Amino acid sequence: MLKRLCSTVNDFRHLLRARENVVAAWPKSYYRRELIPVRCLNRWMFVVNSPAGVQHVMVGNARNYRKSPGNTQVLRPLVGHGLFVSEGELWTRQRRLSNPATHSSRLQGYSRIITEAGAGMLADWRARGDPHEQDVTEAFTLLTADIICQIMFGYKLGDRVHLLYEAFVEYQASHGRMHLLEFLGLPMWLPRFSQRRGRKAVDKFDGVLAEILRAGRNAGGEMPENFLHLLLSFRDEEGRPMTPGQVRDEMASIFLAGHETTALTLAWAFYLLERHPEAEARLQEEIARVLGGRAPAFEDVPNLPFARAVIDETLRLYPPVHVFTRQALGADEISGHKIPAGSFVTISSWVLHRHELWWEEPEVFRPERFLPDNAPKLNAHAYIPFGAGARVCPGKHLGLLESTLLLAQISQSFRLRVRPGHAVEPLGRMTLRPRGGLPMRIERRT
Ligand code: HEM
Repeated sequence: MLKRLCSTVNDFRHLLRARENVVAAWPKSYYRRELIPVRCLNRWMFVVNSPAGVQHVMVGNARNYRKSPGNTQVLRPLVGHGLFVSEGELWTRQRRLSNPATHSSRLQGYSRIITEAGAGMLADWRARGDPHEQDVTEAFTLLTADIICQIMFGYKLGDRVHLLYEAFVEYQASHGRMHLLEFLGLPMWLPRFSQRRGRKAVDKFDGVLAEILRAGRNAGGEMPENFLHLLLSFRDEEGRPMTPGQVRDEMASIFLAGHETTALTLAWAFYLLERHPEAEARLQEEIARVLGGRAPAFEDVPNLPFARAVIDETLRLYPPVHVFTRQALGADEISGHKIPAGSFVTISSWVLHRHELWWEEPEVFRPERFLPDNAPKLNAHAYIPFGAGARVCPGKHLGLLESTLLLAQISQSFRLRVRPGHAVEPLGRMTLRPRGGLPMRIERRT
């Protein structure tokens, strides 16, 4: 009895640590093991940590796994029943419907929007004096929010972008931590204080979405063929349009999934480049040789393999979506372990991407691993910054294009350095962000 009580207290302590910062709570031994069963109070959780296990859960037997209700519940007030959290027939229909908006044939047009918005941010930086300091997680989030709204909804946010940013920061503060109710076996509908605080943020967010939607409807036949157009022109087999609630949820889903991830990729990339001057010098050499001082364009991306490799390696060490939590619908077996129905399966890309068995010198930042000549050596399911299987990120190519173009465009004109004395700590909550932001000194390159 005493032993059971002690182990429950230990479990609870561990869960509280994970709730504060998931990435700091992973024990060192996990970076060597392939599957770890963990008793979480009255539930089992299996940490799946091998390429074969990831393939099984996300691809081979993905039908047996749903997104964990706890995670879904955290996002529900914001994204409702949108693509990021929906399941079953609704998910299949909406995923198919959204495909044309992220198709590779659209990327060339999107890249013009990306570099124009990038140029706008750089003009603002020039106007602020040289050098100046900014929290780059905020600057990049405002930039990518503006970009995703132009690309997906044909809408320029202007000053409203600050309102969306504030709403999202408030929401993360109230809902960003892991759910304990699920592990305690308590029903997820129990009211919580944080839900009320998050409501205000959702109201702000909904106000801006409603404005965008009004503008889209008013544009009528003039509307560009973008994601919002796909939602508004949808008709089901009986000729019925999508409900206003579902249109709102899909807009919220694509907006949220499509901007903060890219912003964090850029912020972590600049942090890593400062710590690795040899990589920064190589990037500078590539940019100068390929672009010769002009702004980057879509056609330049294949000629910027090192810039792209910096992004890939950043996504390995600092994956913005750092953990995937699924629940087994039926009993299963992974790497010889029995997985009872109802248990949780967790895949941490943070751990998997730093695993001693799957990576050589996993802690070392080495973009060269991702250069085209080395690609055959990579183990596909040991590297999952965009997930895998049917639910793989539909914005993968857009996210990679956007990060690569912006990395080249920004580094071409500015040098970024972390504020002296500021300790950078990765904080694993809803996404992987630097705790307290990333204040950087921004200095023009001559
Ligand atoms: C570097 C940038 C990005 C990263 C690292 C990233 C990462 C991810 C990951 C890991 C998932 C899978 C989550 C899971 O399986 O639980 C995902 C899903 C998703 N992403 Fe991205 N993403 C990025 C950019 C984008 C962009 C630009 C868009 C906009 C089109 C987007 C839209 C989505 C959507 C809608 C989903 C849900 C898909 C579904 O469940 O069917 N993402 N993303």
